[in-house]
Amino acid sequence: SSAAEAPAAPIGPEYKDKEEKPQATVSTPISSQNVHILPQTPQLIALLTMIRDKNTPRADFIFYSNRIIRLLVEEGLNHLPVISHPVTTPTGRTYQGVKFEGKICGVSIMRAGEAMEEGLRNCCRSVRIGKILIQRDEETYQPKLFYDKLPADISQRFVLLLDPMFATGGSATMAVQVLISRGVPEERILFLNLIASPQGIKEFAEKFPKLRVVTAFVDQGLDEKNYIIPGLGDFGDRFYCI
Ligand code: PRP
Ligand code: URA
Repeated sequence: SSAAEAPAAPIGPEYKDKEEKPQATVSTPISSQNVHILPQTPQLIALLTMIRDKNTPRADFIFYSNRIIRLLVEEGLNHLPVISHPVTTPTGRTYQGVKFEGKICGVSIMRAGEAMEEGLRNCCRSVRIGKILIQRDEETYQPKLFYDKLPADISQRFVLLLDPMFATGGSATMAVQVLISRGVPEERILFLNLIASPQGIKEFAEKFPKLRVVTAFVDQGLDEKNYIIPGLGDFGDRFYCI
């Protein structure tokens, strides 16, 4: 047929033959229903490549991290319940839509988690945000809780817990324990995270089987200092300091 004879389009998603496509490392798959890994698209991989590169300057690190954070928040919102919401359009017809049901709030694990607040606010304008200050001891790698300030009615809300790095899982586990102690049911917590380790994922699956995780990537593992590998180094330092 004439369609079969037409020359291949020079651009578009299939612009390169399979053999010419660049190789990239994609996320380790996780079989748990509660772990949602962002689709490993060329765009996401390119953004992750920027922030993983040790030579990326801070301004670019912030810019590209923010783009991934936006993707995480948009995906996270897909995991909140909606109810039917029909509307009338200007043509007088009905559109069978939906709207969010229930109240939400963000909770950031300081310091690095605060970097995700702007992305959440860009999607949920006046969202309430609680803070939990947890720092990992640099020698023992044990998390230490210093401070928390959470919305008074947090037990009535869905909680989007924010921390870009999920290494041993110690910090996130401590934050979840604080939320549970304030009456937030496990199944109403959604952990938004940039890079997770298989150890962190396993820790959560054992301790909080009903909690959901949305992450951009599950990496290979941890090094001798409990840094994620290949990882991106210290997120807080790269975003705020160096
Ligand atoms: C980092 C990161 C997580 C934690 C992850 O924070 O932001 O909170 O380590 O490690 P874990 O899963 O082994 O607990 P850090 O304590 O370095 O503080 P920062 O946010 O001030 O950089
Ligand atoms: N905290 C970070 O910022 N990076 C890691 O790899 C582990 C903990």
